[in-house]
Amino acid sequence: MTFDDQDYIQRDPLLERVLISSEELGKRCSQLGNEISRDYPDSCPILVCILKGAYVFLADLARCMSIDHEVDFMAVSSYEGGTQSTGVVKIVKDLRANITDRDVVIVEDIIDSGLTLSYLVEMLQTRSPRSIRICTLLDKTAARTKDVEVHYRGFEIPKEFVVGYGLDYDEKYRNLPFIGVLKQ
Ligand code: IMP
Ligand code: MG
Repeated sequence: MTFDDQDYIQRDPLLERVLISSEELGKRCSQLGNEISRDYPDSCPILVCILKGAYVFLADLARCMSIDHEVDFMAVSSYEGGTQSTGVVKIVKDLRANITDRDVVIVEDIIDSGLTLSYLVEMLQTRSPRSIRICTLLDKTAARTKDVEVHYRGFEIPKEFVVGYGLDYDEKYRNLPFIGVLKQ
């Protein structure tokens, strides 16, 4: 853990601890970038960043890739039914790219219940891509209510609310260079 990570924790009384340090994030991004580059040697995949949470991860991941690729962005919001997510998501911002016959890698910050991504994958499948894979930085596997196939997983984490490295609490903390846990 670098001094900087710990420094943020000491300065903010709402932050409890560092879960994944900036150093660990950097190493894992590099491994994932290499892995994806090996898997798509000739196809120029489209990395689809799910806004807003995945923008930091995408930026680091893309710079760890050694193959030609494109990036595109999509923003979704969940329709909430009471306190439970219904699993129906609204496309707030759609892709500009045509993904027909293309290899798509969805880049997500975190998978929790899996409802958002399973809906999204189903929706993108209707556009007839050659393939769709999911790359998520974080995975709360224990919280899953809907199965999704994850091809690239940065870290499996416990069912705690985390912030930083793109992930927010009330739109704040996205700028933390590490993944931290908020005090309950
Ligand atoms: P799912 O549909 O339950 O898998 O929801 C995934 C989405 O919930 C993520 O893309 C995040 O926007 C949000 N989310 C889930 N857990 C956390 C967390 O611990 N911190 C911040 N956002 C989270
Ligand atoms: Mg997200």
